[in-house]
Amino acid sequence: MQTPDLFSSPQPEASPSEQRMAQLRSLLQHHGHQYYVLDAPEVPDAAYDQWFQELQALEAAHPQWRTPDSPTQRVGGKPLDAFASVRHAVPMLSIRTETDTESTGALAFDTRVRKELELTEDAPAVEYVTELKFDGLAINLRFEGGVLVQAATRGDGEYGEDVTQNIRTIAQIPLKLMAYAQAGVPEVLEVRGEVYMRRDDFEALNERQRARIAHGDKGEKTFVNPRNAAAGAVRQLDPAIAAERPLSFFAYGVGEVRGTLAVSTHMELLLALKAWGFPVAELTSTALGADGLVAFHQRIGALRDQLPYDIDGVVYKVNALALQQRLGFVSREPRWAVAHKYPAQEQITTVLAIDVQVGRTGKLTPVAKLAPVFVGGVTVTNATLHNEDEARRKDVRVGDTVIVRRAGDVIPEVVGVVPESLASATRSEMFTMPRICPVCGSTAVREEGEADYRCTGGLFCSAQRKQAILHFAQRRAVEVEGLGEKLVDQLVDAGLIHTLPDLYRLGFTALATLDRMADKSAQNIVDALEKSKETTLPRFLFGLGIRHVGEATAKALARHFGQIDAIMDASEEQLLVVNDVGPTVAQSIRTFFDQAHNREVVEQLRACGIHWPALDAASNAPKPLAGLTFVITGTLPTLGRDAAKDLIEAAGAKVSGSVSKKTSFVLAGTEAGSKLDKARELGVAVIDEAALRQMLENTP
Ligand code: IVH
Repeated sequence: MQTPDLFSSPQPEASPSEQRMAQLRSLLQHHGHQYYVLDAPEVPDAAYDQWFQELQALEAAHPQWRTPDSPTQRVGGKPLDAFASVRHAVPMLSIRTETDTESTGALAFDTRVRKELELTEDAPAVEYVTELKFDGLAINLRFEGGVLVQAATRGDGEYGEDVTQNIRTIAQIPLKLMAYAQAGVPEVLEVRGEVYMRRDDFEALNERQRARIAHGDKGEKTFVNPRNAAAGAVRQLDPAIAAERPLSFFAYGVGEVRGTLAVSTHMELLLALKAWGFPVAELTSTALGADGLVAFHQRIGALRDQLPYDIDGVVYKVNALALQQRLGFVSREPRWAVAHKYPAQEQITTVLAIDVQVGRTGKLTPVAKLAPVFVGGVTVTNATLHNEDEARRKDVRVGDTVIVRRAGDVIPEVVGVVPESLASATRSEMFTMPRICPVCGSTAVREEGEADYRCTGGLFCSAQRKQAILHFAQRRAVEVEGLGEKLVDQLVDAGLIHTLPDLYRLGFTALATLDRMADKSAQNIVDALEKSKETTLPRFLFGLGIRHVGEATAKALARHFGQIDAIMDASEEQLLVVNDVGPTVAQSIRTFFDQAHNREVVEQLRACGIHWPALDAASNAPKPLAGLTFVITGTLPTLGRDAAKDLIEAAGAKVSGSVSKKTSFVLAGTEAGSKLDKARELGVAVIDEAALRQMLENTP
């Protein structure tokens, strides 16, 4: 087979810039693949960003050398009026669905395959590839000469829509095939797979959408489920909007292939796809005979909730391509593949009531109480309506028939009202959020630009107190084993606990006098409390329940400051220096520790014996440049760029790639270019290496 010179560097006579551009493209392709597909970055984000900016700058200076497979060219096109129709070179078929969600579904398929292949009972088991059935939409990606030229939806299987512009924005999809010695690169290769949205991306997208709606953005709406969100993004006429919708991709097959593709099994094909740079689901494997299929169906069924994306079943495919060919097709469905379903993650039920729950930070959440319904493997009786606007926008009312969705360990949610309910003349009133906290009676307020009402009762509100204690006692915080919701309810309701430190003053007697509390259990709680005193700074910090301070932020703060006192006393500016701490988080931390009662809680907890190992001195070292932002440009007399960056960061400052009004200093060496000009234009102070060294020395 003739391999195009896709992967060789440009001709030796190419100019240095052109060569550098090609080098940057392959660097970015490699590291993009490590990051987006393999989830195993090899370099810091900043390095990637720097190369990306360098390539952008070179492309701006030399547009004639910009190529369509450049990573800078993912978002670019103009909004379309309509999608062009595409005729599929090889029709996109669907697969037969085994709706029997029990194991017998797998047996039926294996029996059919054996019969079609005329295998006798004592013939060996058939080998299958077992895959996940991703809940997204099928896409055909056409590569010519190794470069992505077209992406199309399935449509009716024969004609689809040209959605190339949108698909190019998906970082997991290579714009150019990676080199793969074993299979080369076919002249024409159509890769087929599923575009989908991860559950966390979906939740975050809807969260953003709700915020936009709360801000009065009229045209915006939330999405019903990840599949609809993904389909909406792919069929979005404006590629800039599509680019904002976080999509992912899994490859599972091919369409037209011209040129050699030396594989004899489906598994080898998947491995080739992986080597060319496509994401192939980790859980894909092979299975022998009906037993193997049943085992896979059960294993994935148990894992389904923990997967980061929705699946609605598994897919079994005969592995040997020769056998696939012998089996052929019936009525546009292959005989060699079947989809085996799992119970649905969406169901219909009735709303019995709408309650309002009070969260740890006082947030009021409307919750629909439902007639029990079996969804996504569990019985659901509560489903969140998120906030007042959302409840009213979905117009969910008591007595309505609604669609409930539960996917993964995500909280079940009411997706919408079934249209028949809407037509009913006897519907109850529309939901309105109470203006006082249903638990403590304090005023509930909704701040400007926020979607949520909050109880203003703070720790006077027993609901908030309970949640705060549960948060502190959870496994990811200080972990008090056995201190669950029921016990906390009892302790707070009995007036035994008002603040976190009260927990450690409880003692055996108080616990043992509680209803239904055996001596043994009381002792267990006392022991668990004792054990929880030995913790770590990040766990303690996270456990305090400061708004916007999750586990990752708590870790970053602990690493940066080393001790709790430094965090309690840090200014917003000093906090902002920490990675991942933005203005909202910094303000929230400051507000928390500005309140005397919160500092008191920390003091008392320490007095009760909560302790953690001191962090190493390095992280306690003074940060003379904390709060400053540097930009480095040009060649420095002695320090390499990385060394300079390390020094600056170790001193507590940030290093950024571009000059703005917020830049504190530009550290310039010889041959400094546009960044130096920009600094002068904006009046940003410019220093040299000697000045930097002086700054570092002159501080304590
Ligand atoms: S194979 C000829 N494999 O399910 C076989 N399809 O009707 C073609 N799907 O809309 C499909 N995961 O998008 C195949 N691992 C998987 C799949 C899968 C999801 C979707 C596909 C199509 C439908 C099949």
